[in-house]
Amino acid sequence: MYSPEKEKELIEKTRKLLELSISDIKSIEDARAIVEDLREVIRYHDWRYYVLANPVISDYEYDKLFHLLKDIEKKYPELITPDSPTQRVASGLTKEFPQVKHLAPMLSLDNSYNEEDLRDFDRRVREATGLDVVEYSVEPKFDGAGISLVYEDNLFVRGATRGDGIVGEDITQNLKTIKTIPLSADFKSYGIKTIEIRGEVLIRKDLFKKINQERLEEGLPPFANPRNAAAGSLRLQDPKEVAKRGLEAFVYQITYAVDDEGNNLLGTKIRKHHESIKMLYQLGFRSPYKEIKVCKGIDEVIDYCYQWQEKRDEYPYELDGMVVKVNDISLYDKLGVTSHHPRWAIAFKFKARQATTRIIKVVFQVGRTGAVTPVAKLEPVEIGGVTVSSVSLINEDFIREKDIRIGDLVLIERAGDVIPYVVKVIKEARTGKEQPIVFPKNCPSCGSPLVKPPGEAVWRCININCPAQVVERIIYFASKDAMDIRGLGEAIVRRFYELGFLRSIPDIYRLPYDKIKQLEGFGEKSVENLRRSIEESKHRPIHRLITGLGIRYVGKVTAKTLAEHINCVEELKDWSVEELEKLPDIGYVVARSIYDFFHNQQNLKIIYELKELGVQTCKEKQETVEHLFDGKTFVFTGGLHCCSREVAQEIVERLGGKATSSVSKKTSFVVVGENPGSKLRKAQQLGVKTITEEEFIQMIKDHIPEDLRDKVSI
Ligand code: IVH
Repeated sequence: MYSPEKEKELIEKTRKLLELSISDIKSIEDARAIVEDLREVIRYHDWRYYVLANPVISDYEYDKLFHLLKDIEKKYPELITPDSPTQRVASGLTKEFPQVKHLAPMLSLDNSYNEEDLRDFDRRVREATGLDVVEYSVEPKFDGAGISLVYEDNLFVRGATRGDGIVGEDITQNLKTIKTIPLSADFKSYGIKTIEIRGEVLIRKDLFKKINQERLEEGLPPFANPRNAAAGSLRLQDPKEVAKRGLEAFVYQITYAVDDEGNNLLGTKIRKHHESIKMLYQLGFRSPYKEIKVCKGIDEVIDYCYQWQEKRDEYPYELDGMVVKVNDISLYDKLGVTSHHPRWAIAFKFKARQATTRIIKVVFQVGRTGAVTPVAKLEPVEIGGVTVSSVSLINEDFIREKDIRIGDLVLIERAGDVIPYVVKVIKEARTGKEQPIVFPKNCPSCGSPLVKPPGEAVWRCININCPAQVVERIIYFASKDAMDIRGLGEAIVRRFYELGFLRSIPDIYRLPYDKIKQLEGFGEKSVENLRRSIEESKHRPIHRLITGLGIRYVGKVTAKTLAEHINCVEELKDWSVEELEKLPDIGYVVARSIYDFFHNQQNLKIIYELKELGVQTCKEKQETVEHLFDGKTFVFTGGLHCCSREVAQEIVERLGGKATSSVSKKTSFVVVGENPGSKLRKAQQLGVKTITEEEFIQMIKDHIPEDLRDKVSI
């Protein structure tokens, strides 16, 4: 934590340092003075960036400061200190992890699942302490990998995994790559010489999704959940790889603290848990400072736990419950510990996101790119309020690694909006009747032999006319994220394919409406609606058409990037791989895939046929983005009357703004609809401007893009 004056001073210092270059450093005395300043400002900017998520300099400027420090340290290695920000990424491989003894045992927590359990816990605490009303602090229970950090004389000297609770693995080098773990902190100002802190290493949910998507595209098995991803990353042998995983750390408990004379400070100088959390925050750590609540008595505790259970999905990190701790640390000794857990704390566990069920059979689905995915059909089971009846088994390697068989009892996890995943097979439940899963040699749709390109984990059908692929491509083309053709959903596409009406994407624009009218389930009106939405789709912005083409690795984000740099879709046939790679967020693999797509005659034929049939392949006038909302970020909460949330978000984007799902200090407006959620509260807390739906409509009403007008009623 920095005072406003200190921040001003540091920003001023930053500006001066940014003007310097290595050639200005003429002597070691010069260097010594500047190195100190550089480290101080870099630490400050790390804190703004990683802890507050609100940087005050650009990435470029930050890199410049960092490189200057590195250059000076290279010239004068004697000035390197172990807490210099340059020491975060160690260069050598760790090979193995030595064992270290924790200063205090790393205990786990007793669990509670409902109000009654919490009341029992409170009764036990009251009986043991003789208090009528106990003060508790309640904070989230982070679902990551537990860690223990030791600081001595202000320096981070050791970090370890939990291990068996008494001895853990020394992963100091890996932990040093995590920017939310300060390499030094001013514990001395609190009279602390040696301190041990417990915390959790986590990966943000959105980043986790991205990592998994990349792993799937590379043919690697995805991680089951953010916890496994964090734990796996922490134990990587190369700290440089660890640094790339985007790990973060929250600290939530001081388990050991002594002064220069070896006096214990816990319960004496450090008296209240919530104060220790604040102290850690002020020293530059990520701690649940904003999330923690001090509750007087168990009723408030119960309320707060249930409040968080409701909003756990909105929180950027995975939580598996709340932790209720007696706030007065001096009572810890009196309450004591069992062999496994302290009696002064308890976990309140949220509804489980795992369940066991049986695999009934396995089917093989052919996707639009020809990839064959094994899918297990399950005995339906409820997980976190959703019924799950099938789960992807990813690929052949995954099945083999986990030794999954038909008839097996399996543990399934569904974390948040992440797709369900097989965590493990309950082998103990096997009867001997389980059947191995046999991967087909031929495409289940067209019968052609499947191929597995070298280095890939996925079997593919490479017959471009394979019915399953064609159907999937048409379904995708018409889907909401692509051309958004209402009335042309999955079932209708399959039916029209069977009837021979739809054998390619352009056939959508040649449908025999006369014949369709005579089909069962179709009336004059529904056919007219279908015809109308197909006609409308001819004038969609071209990024939707690009998405709809189903180019491998090109989702709606990349499609938008491409659309920003061209006028007509067909122009892409003239782009080289190198040119494509220069576009933001497009690497070699994606560029190559786009290039290959536009160098395939069949694909070009589809584009030209679509053009012939009246589908807009070039930008129309209304597509040129208006700049009304340039630089503005909108968040919507609650129901809207004018239109769907997706349409409102698209309007914001088409007018140059951004629509995001969570409120931060950077949000310009929170649009409040009917029955708003917790985002409204968050906006009020952060002082973000809130507007009503009417006010939003006033802003946009003269600027709604033409092709969206019929989706808005005002
Ligand atoms: S306190 C002596 N607070 O949950 C008790 N633990 O199931 C120290 N955890 O091993 C733990 N969030 O890895 C505490 N806010 C929190 C936590 C938390 C997550 C983990 C921790 C612990 C496990 C127990």
